[in-house]
Amino acid sequence: MIHRPRRSVLYMPGSKSRALDKAATLPADALILDLEDAVTPAEKSAARDLVAERVKARPFGPREVIIRINGADTEWGAADLAAAAAAKPDAILLPKVESPDDIAAARAVAGDIPIWAMMETPLGMLNAAQIAGTTGLTCMVMGTNDLVKDLHACHVAGREPLLAALGLAMLAARANNLAIIDGVYNAFKDDEGLRAECQQGRAMGFDGKTLIHPAQLAVANDVFGPSVEALDEAHAQIAAHEQVAETGGGVAVVNGRIVENLHVENAKRLLAEAEAIAALEAAAR
Ligand code: COA
Ligand code: MG
Repeated sequence: MIHRPRRSVLYMPGSKSRALDKAATLPADALILDLEDAVTPAEKSAARDLVAERVKARPFGPREVIIRINGADTEWGAADLAAAAAAKPDAILLPKVESPDDIAAARAVAGDIPIWAMMETPLGMLNAAQIAGTTGLTCMVMGTNDLVKDLHACHVAGREPLLAALGLAMLAARANNLAIIDGVYNAFKDDEGLRAECQQGRAMGFDGKTLIHPAQLAVANDVFGPSVEALDEAHAQIAAHEQVAETGGGVAVVNGRIVENLHVENAKRLLAEAEAIAALEAAAR
């Protein structure tokens, strides 16, 4: 199934009106207006009002707009949820989701607004399969910073300490037809490291990457969009398979590799992804 493009999903501190002003010009597929970790306690209430006002006005073009609220167990959670439900963003992102009940409780207030879940605690990871099956949930977002903290792990190139958690969430998301976005890359001036981590995320199956700075947008858009070579190969695979099918064959060969029906399905998914990206980019211009 093709989800809408979510190659680049940028966190924006909900307290920064200047940054929010520029949101509609940024080449991001989606924006997460954050009320949680990017906002200090002193600014929580002003940020809530600002984000609610902006989301109601919707000056974001075709970019998908998500509000990340504070947890239900914090002093801000209930007011954030009520304000987000009234503002009607494209989705409400819940932090530190650990059970289906967390989603059901938010849905009781948010109604039909899609819920996204931060997957960022050890318990959340172990419950990923049940969480992913909850009604109303449409997307998982990896919270790799919280996860590293709770695991007492380290941030290392290649992310070996996180592979089990990333893989569990990925399995849960795909088994339930959810979108799933990778965690952030903290060193926002290190393009090379970001590119390597995006490539790893893409190879694992993530739809895109959450980002902390506009300077990271171009790399994520590039890596998570299908490359020209991949699209050329997809066209070649579809054509070659059609040709062998005409004579009753089921297996073609392209670039030295077999092409069966399942590869054709994958090729068609890539082409649909490219079309969806082109449509989004045209609408954003
Ligand atoms: N979204 C939109 N605009 C952003 C942005 C973001 N995440 N991060 C920076 N910008 C803007 C700045 O406002 C600045 O705009 P200006 O020129 O109008 O002042 C411009 O981009 C350049 O910013 P820069 O000076 O390079 O960075 P900074 O020092 O102001 O901020 C961070 C660096 C990391 C503090 C900032 O990027 C940030 O707060 N990121 C988001 C963090 C977050 O959301 N964390 C929670 C999820 S992990
Ligand atoms: Mg977090």
